[in-house]
Amino acid sequence: MLRLEHAWTWLAVTVGALLGVTPSASRDLSGSRPNILLLMADDFGIGDIGCYGNDTIRTPNIDRLARDGVMLTQHLAAASVCTPSRAAFLTGRYPLRSGMVSSNGYRVLQWTGVSGGLPTNETTFAKILKDRGYATGLIGKWHLGLNCESPNDHCHHPLNHGFDHFYGMPFSMMGDCIRWELSEKRAGMERKLNVCFQIMAVAALTLTAGKLTHLTSGSWTPVIWSTMAAILLFTTTYFLGDLIVHADCFLMRNHTITEQPMHFPRTTSLILKEVSSFIQRNKQTPFLLFVSFLHVHTPLITTEKFRGKSVHGLYGDNTEEMDWMLGKILDTLDTEGLANSTLVYFTSDHGGSLESRLRNNQYGGSNGIYKGGKGMGGWEGGIRVPGIFRWPGVLPAGRVIHEPTSLMDVFPTVVELGGGHVPQDRVIDGRSLVPLLQGTAEHSAHEFLFHYCGKYLHAARWHEKDSGRLWKVHYMTPRFHPKGAGACHGQGVCPCSGDGVTQHSPPLLFDLSRDPSETRPLSPGSEPRYHAVLARVHEALEQHRRTLSPVPPQFSLGNIVWKPWLQPCCGTFPLCACTQDGDPNEA
Ligand SMILES: *[C@@H]1O[C@H](CO)[C@@H](O)[C@H](O)[C@H]1NC(C)=O
Ligand SMILES: *[C@@H]1O[C@H](CO)[C@@H](O)[C@H](O)[C@H]1NC(C)=O
Ligand SMILES: *[C@@H]1O[C@H](CO)[C@@H](O)[C@H](O)[C@H]1NC(C)=O
Ligand SMILES: *[C@@H]1O[C@H](CO)[C@@H](O)[C@H](O)[C@H]1NC(C)=O
Repeated sequence: MLRLEHAWTWLAVTVGALLGVTPSASRDLSGSRPNILLLMADDFGIGDIGCYGNDTIRTPNIDRLARDGVMLTQHLAAASVCTPSRAAFLTGRYPLRSGMVSSNGYRVLQWTGVSGGLPTNETTFAKILKDRGYATGLIGKWHLGLNCESPNDHCHHPLNHGFDHFYGMPFSMMGDCIRWELSEKRAGMERKLNVCFQIMAVAALTLTAGKLTHLTSGSWTPVIWSTMAAILLFTTTYFLGDLIVHADCFLMRNHTITEQPMHFPRTTSLILKEVSSFIQRNKQTPFLLFVSFLHVHTPLITTEKFRGKSVHGLYGDNTEEMDWMLGKILDTLDTEGLANSTLVYFTSDHGGSLESRLRNNQYGGSNGIYKGGKGMGGWEGGIRVPGIFRWPGVLPAGRVIHEPTSLMDVFPTVVELGGGHVPQDRVIDGRSLVPLLQGTAEHSAHEFLFHYCGKYLHAARWHEKDSGRLWKVHYMTPRFHPKGAGACHGQGVCPCSGDGVTQHSPPLLFDLSRDPSETRPLSPGSEPRYHAVLARVHEALEQHRRTLSPVPPQFSLGNIVWKPWLQPCCGTFPLCACTQDGDPNEA
């Protein structure tokens, strides 16, 4: 019996050798069920990291992860703003396929109390792995919706999308959470409300004067109504900052609000505590933990220990604190003896925000040599993000891969490792990274990738395997403000359509393999293959378009406006305040 087995092994090895397969390198990892720890930073630029070339910011823990694992240099987000990029990450599909894109300028969910969100019939990798027996958790930011019809239906909640544990912000960090000058929505709304108040006040005064001087006849009703409207507008404007803080800046554990509004000095330690207790609780079963950092989104909440410590102001301090948090999380894996049985992944949801600046202080990330940033669908700086995988003893240490890969690839990758199957009833745009990471495949499975801004296709990329050249075609690019600034200052993010963009006909063509900063558009004179490349990309685009079908839009005006009856609130509406997680002063 033993001899026979040996004979078979010998035969298999010989045949394998003849076919050019080396058993050690092609170890079949599907269904090997490692723990999976996914770490995602918010608004973090690829230029902010030591191992990606920054020599003044200190990110020793991210650098260590890269040294011990595989580093991707052309890792691409499917969108350049939070909500759609995260939807694509969790589903492995372009956000257009789930309706998580806008056609109206509102490109991320604007409030917690809206009805839009990740549709319940979308399948996340968490759901598949949960069905395969994984303990699944999400700690940190969600920003993919909460309710559909009532304040407690939680139809878009992480627990309804395959996570069996959630702790964090259903919405997103923002400057408005601390009434910061760099405001996402308060400042703009205040201006509009103020104009309305002034109109109403003038109307009320005119009507009152008319009545008192007997110039107008009729009842007092219009006077009363306009005065009440003016008072209401004034009060709303006055309390708007508070309203936003209470409406969006709160923490939940599972289905329960634990802190509304958040008490920021303790948030970082609460998150770290939650991560380590999740890992300890679930170390016996394989687990999937998605840590979705609130760092390094504005307002850059940073604990005392890190303030003023970097050479890059508050943004640098916040980055270094996040790196420290990441180190703490890796330490937990080490002390629990889980490092070798855990696949760790680190990324950012999209590029750094160039518009986050105030009086010459930069509060957003840097995207290194790449043009553009957050909010720009086509330019490389908005979508090229860090991507690092570590799995000691299984993935090679210190390997760097320059092939095009997507955040959507994480979906089929973790599904395969966890022993699940990708859904067959829908298009999945991600491709498993396992062969590329292991080194059994030389090339990425992506020949083409499409870069959307909202629902508008801005650019496409073709990795031509034979020549190794990397073509990028831009059909539309944002109009910078002021001209030549490289960003859209004063506008939050650059627009995707209308007057805010330039349509290019013929399209702009770049060869990123020679011009990664997209500074020298090619012409038929400078590039003999100009027409052939444009034609090939156009053909791929037509093919891609044939796979799209219309779905309910999640960012329609009806789905994006604040609906008071969907507002999660602990305590009495509209006060909405509680701390159920102990003493807020205990840090
Ligand atoms: C390093 O990151 C900081 C913070 O974003 C940035 O200001 C600086 O330009 C970066 N340095 C390099 C070499 O990219
Ligand atoms: C969250 O809910 C799940 C069940 O849905 C439960 O297993 C888990 O323990 C809960 N977590 C906490 C902290 O209550
Ligand atoms: C983890 O894997 C590395 C790399 O293969 C190996 O050197 C180390 O001894 C392993 N550690 C444990 C605790 O097994
Ligand atoms: C989800 O439901 C919507 C609306 O019924 C439908 O258009 C869409 O195709 C469905 N998506 C999937 C993945 O089944």
